[in-house]
Amino acid sequence: MTNIAGKTAFITGAASGIGLALTARFAKANANVVMADIDANALTAAAATITGNIATVVCDVADPKSIKIAADATIAAFGSVHIIINNAGVSTSGRPGNVPLEDWRWIMDINLMGVVHGVEAFLPILREQGEGGYFINTASLAGHLAGKGMGPYTASKFAVVGYSEVLAQELAHENIGVSILCPAWVKTSIADAYKKRPSGTDRLDEAAGKHEAFEAVANGIDADVVADWTYDCMMARRLYIFTHPRYHSFLDERKALIDADADACATDQRFAKPSG
Ligand SMILES: NC(=O)c1ccc[n+]([C@@H]2O[C@H](COP(=O)([O-])OP(=O)(O)OC[C@H]3O[C@@H](n4cnc5c(N)ncnc54)[C@H](O)[C@@H]3O)[C@@H](O)[C@H]2O)c1
Repeated sequence: MTNIAGKTAFITGAASGIGLALTARFAKANANVVMADIDANALTAAAATITGNIATVVCDVADPKSIKIAADATIAAFGSVHIIINNAGVSTSGRPGNVPLEDWRWIMDINLMGVVHGVEAFLPILREQGEGGYFINTASLAGHLAGKGMGPYTASKFAVVGYSEVLAQELAHENIGVSILCPAWVKTSIADAYKKRPSGTDRLDEAAGKHEAFEAVANGIDADVVADWTYDCMMARRLYIFTHPRYHSFLDERKALIDADADACATDQRFAKPSG
């Protein structure tokens, strides 16, 4: 991709944080942008801050019908669509035994199924148009690294990474690119998302890692930097988009644990290749 001027991008979670910054970046590149978010008031206020060809649609990514309606609204507004950014997400934390199952389902429905719903709604349109296209799915560094107290969030983001890796392989021959956005700490409103979890319990206050994570987000990098980098990585058609190089050594630690088992397995006779 060399130029996205006149192309149309659909962005979820566009009323705040990374989604709003991506909207501004893509509008600056003269793309049409459809801003989708569940929060109607925030969406209206956010759209007023953007200069460019913008449309808004209120949409709940957890509801496949809602995304389908948003996809139809995108075509009604701009006639075609080329870039889909499945970015909306929420967070909650808690130790094992301390996270209500309804909160587990809530976060998986938004963080994982929201991405799946976006792909299912827009892929038929991209195929019908026959011009290729691009998906950017927002995961997290938490989609590669486990952290205490972050079970539901980490599980949802590992799933987004795995799903998106498959998607990239499946769609490569259709000229539809895929990138996976994997930031660590970004200064946004994500730390407040837990307040909307269905259980409404106050058990989160006991959760391991809560305060550290909230502080890290407050001291995180600017969403504008993430959006700018994401745009560059999409143009370069890179699968992974990382934003915090200082954490890469932790990925090596994970690989070392995997290698340790692989080495043990390789020398165990139960896994030896049958001879002859
Ligand atoms: N901020 C960070 O440190 C960080 C780090 C890694 C990954 N992320 C990921 O970045 C993405 C964007 O988060 P953010 O940090 O900008 O947070 P944010 O809270 O500032 O923005 C998230 C937006 O998503 C919207 N949203 C929530 N549920 C929705 C739903 N069901 N349907 C549609 N919209 C919905 C919210 O209304 C909000 O406008 C998320 O997927 C998050 O997990 C954030």
